[in-house]
Amino acid sequence: MYKLKIVADLHHFPESLSDGGRAYQLRSSSDQVCLCESGAIIDAAFENIANSDCDAVLIAGDLSNDGEKIAHDEMLEKIKKLSEKKKVFVIYSTHDWCCNGDARRFVGDKAYNDVETATAPYLREFYKDYGENQAYDTYENEIGAVSYAVKLDGKVRLIGLNDDRNGKGKAGYCDEHFEWILKQVRDAKANGEAVIIMEHHLVLPHISRLINGGQMIGDADERAEALAEAGVDFIIVGHSHMQRTTQYTAKNGNVMTQINVGSLCGHPSPITTLTVTDEEFRIDVDRLQKFTYNGTEYTNEYITEHTKDVLMGLLNSAANDKEEFIARFNGIDEKLKYDGKYYGIISKAARWLLKMTVGKAGRLINFFTFGKGVNKQAVKQIKNDNLVEHIMDIYLCVFDGSLKKCSSTNDPVYIIVKDVASLPKRISRVVKIKTLQKEKIQKVFTQIEELAEELTNPSLPDNQHAVIGR
Ligand SMILES: [Fe+2]
Ligand SMILES: [Fe+2]
Repeated sequence: MYKLKIVADLHHFPESLSDGGRAYQLRSSSDQVCLCESGAIIDAAFENIANSDCDAVLIAGDLSNDGEKIAHDEMLEKIKKLSEKKKVFVIYSTHDWCCNGDARRFVGDKAYNDVETATAPYLREFYKDYGENQAYDTYENEIGAVSYAVKLDGKVRLIGLNDDRNGKGKAGYCDEHFEWILKQVRDAKANGEAVIIMEHHLVLPHISRLINGGQMIGDADERAEALAEAGVDFIIVGHSHMQRTTQYTAKNGNVMTQINVGSLCGHPSPITTLTVTDEEFRIDVDRLQKFTYNGTEYTNEYITEHTKDVLMGLLNSAANDKEEFIARFNGIDEKLKYDGKYYGIISKAARWLLKMTVGKAGRLINFFTFGKGVNKQAVKQIKNDNLVEHIMDIYLCVFDGSLKKCSSTNDPVYIIVKDVASLPKRISRVVKIKTLQKEKIQKVFTQIEELAEELTNPSLPDNQHAVIGR
């Protein structure tokens, strides 16, 4: 038996880069991830992992928030401490060397872009003890980052990859890099070993390409087929911050499983365990239970509330506080320059939405669709429920892969969401407007239906606990 603990997208943000003022508050409230609390969350998770019975730890990229050298310095200390108890393997990607040039520090109501950041070659040297130095073979890619292959215990092969560039302007692998990967896979399979690849971007889409199509490697479909055909058992990925387990069957019948590990410092703060035995693979996703920040102990509800506040804070300020709404809205992206225009209308709409019940929303939709929009019986069952609360449950499910309230396909939430998601396609059939009949538009309508299905009735394997035979 070989047991791995896996975390991803830690986005460590050093507290020294913020005085907790207005600029930081706005930055923090626009991010699903807890920033200043990240050090405390990571410490708690690493302590939990260090005291567990696992054999090794995988960290699947985005260790730092935006490539800050000081964030990597602090991360290295944490990893060093963890490595006293466990073997640690790291890959670095996207936010580790500041792909978007967005590293900032926050003082009062100002943000400064003068934070020193790392480069890919710098990180190669920096984290070499946690990959390259334990490897029997390596490959350097075009940005000077390194991929490595490690024989874990003679029965499990780990291939840690940097997938930031495919040579065609996208994430992924150039052909030479990919050949190197396939060579490691074939070698491991010839030896009867299980093959686990760790990379940062997605190889298999999940939920919907509408949401994470842009988070995949280039040529993902071709690469998935080749990797599965060669016998890869698992692909561990991060980047999307969404916890999902997805499978792909190659033309030769090989089944490859992708575990997309969510962000440790955002909801649901997952720690994933992958257990490899001679007979099966077992996946268990547990939430970090608690952490101590500034002397106070918090449960994982704190992290969930932070993730919820990204939407609820914006909606509440839209309803009640013009200045706060302008600041929060513009805080989403530096390029946004909203000046408060039409706030009166926005405020009325937000207040109306916050008070909306499922019954009222259902009646409204059915009024405009001549009673055919949503199933009246389903609406009746939960007519007094607050609509926004249900939307928040579905929003959290994007990150954790588990919609708790929706137990079956008879569930009213499932029926209503499915009806609403199929509305664009159903309307397009009735109104027969030419542009709506175009193949591209119809494809988007189908993707909206698939998205709703996946969020209210997540497909197998289960995203929290699954057993996969070998
Ligand atoms: Fe990330
Ligand atoms: Fe990322």
